[in-house]
Amino acid sequence: MAERIVLNTDIRKGKIDRNIYGHFAEHLGRCIYEGIWVGEDSPIPNTKGIRNDVVEALKEMKIPVLRWPGGCFADEYHWKDGIGPSEERKRMINTHWGGAVENNHFGTHEFMLLCEMLGCEPYINGNVGSGTVQEMSEWVEYLTFNGVSPMAELRQKNGQEDAWSVKYFGVGNENWGCGGNMRPEFYADLYRQYQTYVRNYGDNKIHRIACGANADDYNWTEVLMREATRFMDSITLHYYTLPTSDWNHKGAATGFGTDEYFTTLKKALFMDELVTRHIAIMDKYDPEKRVGLIVDEWGTWYDVEPGTNPGFLYQQNTIRDALVAGLTLNIFHKHSDRVRMANIAQTVNVLQAVILTEGEKMLLTPTYHVFNMYKVHQDAELLELTVDSPVYSYEGVEIPEVSASASVNAEGIIHVSLCNLNHASSAVLPLALRGLAGQASVSGTTLAGASIDAHNSFEQPEAVTPQAFSAFKLEGDTLTVELPPMSVTVLAITPQ
Ligand code: AHR
Repeated sequence: MAERIVLNTDIRKGKIDRNIYGHFAEHLGRCIYEGIWVGEDSPIPNTKGIRNDVVEALKEMKIPVLRWPGGCFADEYHWKDGIGPSEERKRMINTHWGGAVENNHFGTHEFMLLCEMLGCEPYINGNVGSGTVQEMSEWVEYLTFNGVSPMAELRQKNGQEDAWSVKYFGVGNENWGCGGNMRPEFYADLYRQYQTYVRNYGDNKIHRIACGANADDYNWTEVLMREATRFMDSITLHYYTLPTSDWNHKGAATGFGTDEYFTTLKKALFMDELVTRHIAIMDKYDPEKRVGLIVDEWGTWYDVEPGTNPGFLYQQNTIRDALVAGLTLNIFHKHSDRVRMANIAQTVNVLQAVILTEGEKMLLTPTYHVFNMYKVHQDAELLELTVDSPVYSYEGVEIPEVSASASVNAEGIIHVSLCNLNHASSAVLPLALRGLAGQASVSGTTLAGASIDAHNSFEQPEAVTPQAFSAFKLEGDTLTVELPPMSVTVLAITPQ
């Protein structure tokens, strides 16, 4: 058999930043309100208004970083609306997302409390599109300044004595679109101006993040890197995977055909080319790789569930989404010398969510299980791995059948993540374990679907869950694995 995977267990390629496993939560639909925030008076068990079940699930998955408050909402958000006594906070319409009433009950203090409860880094996205330099500057002062100043006093008046520690700060979101419809030259100048007033106070060092490109808009990256490299620590990239090419008919989250299943995976694989090409531009202006690439919005985007508010972006999540997650995370690993953070859109009840809620009920989606299985890669060392994959073809179009990645953790345990994209066939592959002196013990976990749209519902919340995996045989230094159709598998190889 020609196809195989070669894993060089002794060739390390640098750290996989845990922040690649980051998430994104916007004031959109039922992500923040209902999904995360229910308020202290809710019958749903909560801590100071934040749902306990959701917090526990996200902690279990080791969420490393959370981006907030948008998205498009970020460039319409005025942070002072979300501080002070909650009953006095402004009520307004979220005009961008479904016309819902935004009561501002979830604001800066609540977000920082959430991050504290999750044990994750906050990533705050400031407003360039409709906000002022002063407003952004004061937000950073409010958050991080510990001396005598109007914003520090205001924070203290609102009950937070000490400044918080905030590392990641984004200067605008999608400023080529919902964040102001700007040209890259104009935004580059605005970025330089706004970031000047995003100050480092005391020991708090801000990692300044410039708004980057939409998908394959390579010119945006070119202009930003040319004009502003020395003012940024990272630049972003947004890419969503749609089954079709029509934003008005994106395709359904469940009940789709094999054609849409296949196209979705093919389009998800495009992330590799996108990241490679944006990085090539970054390399030109920043050969030392000081500036990171942050893919702070990615994931699948389908038509909303029938009967739900089109502005709420609520969609189901199937084994197809699990495969998109698995192969995309493998791509990010490969580029982890430059991709230092990624944030799947969005945490709860919106787009490719890891969690869905309905009243007091909560379920974990197939995408959640992939993040939970893959958490072993967080901060581990990437290992050199090559895949000579079998071909998966559908109606004359070909893609690789298998996506794979491997890392070694601080205890010397090697983890290999493997996705079999093929909807109909198992993939039987020999995995050559090079550089492993002596014996090894192997165990595994797999997530597979019985149909192309296998998913968890509130009636059957455990239809798609990880199972122990034993379809492998270790002979000498060859580990032959049989990956079920439509599956994501993680192997743990412990040298003896
Ligand atoms: O995630 C939904 C939206 O997609 C975000 O608000 C925006 O940044 C992007 O267009």
